Amino acid sequence: MTTRENSASNVAPDVALVVAAAAEPAVEHMIEPVVAPAMRYRVKLKQTNEVYECLPHESMLQGMARLGRRGIPIGCLNGGCGICKVAVVAGAWEKTGLMSRAHVSAEEEARGTVLACRAAPSSDIEIEVLGKMQKAVFKGWP
Ligand code: FES
Repeated sequence: MTTRENSASNVAPDVALVVAAAAEPAVEHMIEPVVAPAMRYRVKLKQTNEVYECLPHESMLQGMARLGRRGIPIGCLNGGCGICKVAVVAGAWEKTGLMSRAHVSAEEEARGTVLACRAAPSSDIEIEVLGKMQKAVFKGWP
């Protein structure tokens, strides 16, 4: 028996495994990051049945602008001019900033009449475009 054979046979089995594992070449595992698709809420325009999407906390007006319609008024974007007034027909929404009381009273807001630049859907939602924006949004609509 050679010296080498002696040393291998005298090694405890669990130590032999460690030695064998250390002899293996390092294997790098590529771990693909799991990225969930961005959650989006569907916003339906009652008058036309058009549907667009909003990201969470994105205002209804920002999403509506992606419809690409020339008539969609992008006004002050800070709840001051009142051009983007809509009524929430169904679904949940969250207020993203102050709305001018000159354009939306507290009672209207409590009933779901909001300025689309200051409200974001928090579920799939249906809205009705009101006031000045109605004419602009639906201009040329069949
Ligand atoms: S864009 Fe002015 S109040 Fe919404």
